[in-house]
Amino acid sequence: MVAAFSRATCTIARVKGLILSGGKGTRLRPITHTSAKQLVPIANKPILFYAVEAIVAAGIDEIGIITGDTGAEVEAAVGDGSRFGARITYIPQDAPRGLAHAVLCARHFLGDESFVMYLGDNLIRHGIIPIVETFSQVQPDALILLARVPEPQHFGVAELSEGKVVRLVEKPAQPTSDLALVGVYLFNHTVFDAIDAIDYSPRGELEITDAIQKMIDTGRRVEPHLIVEPHQALVATWKDTGRLEDMLEANRIVLDDLAPRMEGTIGEGVRLHGKVIVERGAQLSNCTVRGPAIIGENTVVDDAYIGPYTSIYYGCTLRNAELEHSIVLENSVIENVEGKIESSLIGKECLIGRSPLRPRAYKLMVGDHSRVELR
Ligand code: G1P
Repeated sequence: MVAAFSRATCTIARVKGLILSGGKGTRLRPITHTSAKQLVPIANKPILFYAVEAIVAAGIDEIGIITGDTGAEVEAAVGDGSRFGARITYIPQDAPRGLAHAVLCARHFLGDESFVMYLGDNLIRHGIIPIVETFSQVQPDALILLARVPEPQHFGVAELSEGKVVRLVEKPAQPTSDLALVGVYLFNHTVFDAIDAIDYSPRGELEITDAIQKMIDTGRRVEPHLIVEPHQALVATWKDTGRLEDMLEANRIVLDDLAPRMEGTIGEGVRLHGKVIVERGAQLSNCTVRGPAIIGENTVVDDAYIGPYTSIYYGCTLRNAELEHSIVLENSVIENVEGKIESSLIGKECLIGRSPLRPRAYKLMVGDHSRVELR
């Protein structure tokens, strides 16, 4: 389960962690105009924290985080790592010039040690303990995670032959398999030779996919690890949260795994069904909440319906409104809305409401690249 990994039981050879938390997050605009995509909360916890926790649970406490334009915000949120039981070093990347470029930026931090590279917007449902253990025991030069996906053209794609990786292509127009590269990779120091030997791709990035292909071509041992078998495909175990739909699904996956918790105040006329988490200081009255759902600290819910797979972060107000399968960020207000809001991601300090004045028109002030779908 995502929320509480138990620590690895066997001793793992020394491995460092490298989390990538730069990038522009263009597919999540306008949210990413003002903040890092890796800090969007999934079940009221920044996605990035799941990565840190997964790495720490695998017995790794020395972690580097690659940051870009949003570095200050990432650093303020994660801190020195002590609350996670880790030591965190921040490593700036001057521009998003590719995953392999990010590894080069961390050369000094990584030294000659092996490392797990974890993309900070990826969510692995069951953590990475067995994967890090396999890497430590088998000691390949690289271990890559693969998952079967319906639209492989959006990912790095792997071709296997007799259980061996033979070819990797970054976002091919015509994929030759449905095996996508998951955003978690394990390497030993030989990856640096491969990165030194590749060129920038047509999209102007040093691709980790090309570096791994170079490792294969130069006789390095690259082991595949399939994390989703076809018969399990209905239960997603991995999500790259680059798009709104994926973010909402990641939220669904995590909420499904959480245990109910009640730390808030329940007033008159409240009906709670299924798994509901009410955090400290939250106040509920005259409402129905159908879980799995989480209501954040000091959030007020009154005369409202909250449906399954909804996460409302701290300091929000939901009054005379209905909401489901959505994520609401901190300090937002949703009031007096006719009809149900669903499949939505609502940013920080937003106000969605109804004006008492005529004309009864839609009045909008939405950020650049916003998406508003009206009935
Ligand atoms: C990156 C990698 C891609 C991989 C994906 C996993 O793509 O380049 O090979 O499949 O992460 O999340 P990006 O999300 O940066 O486009």
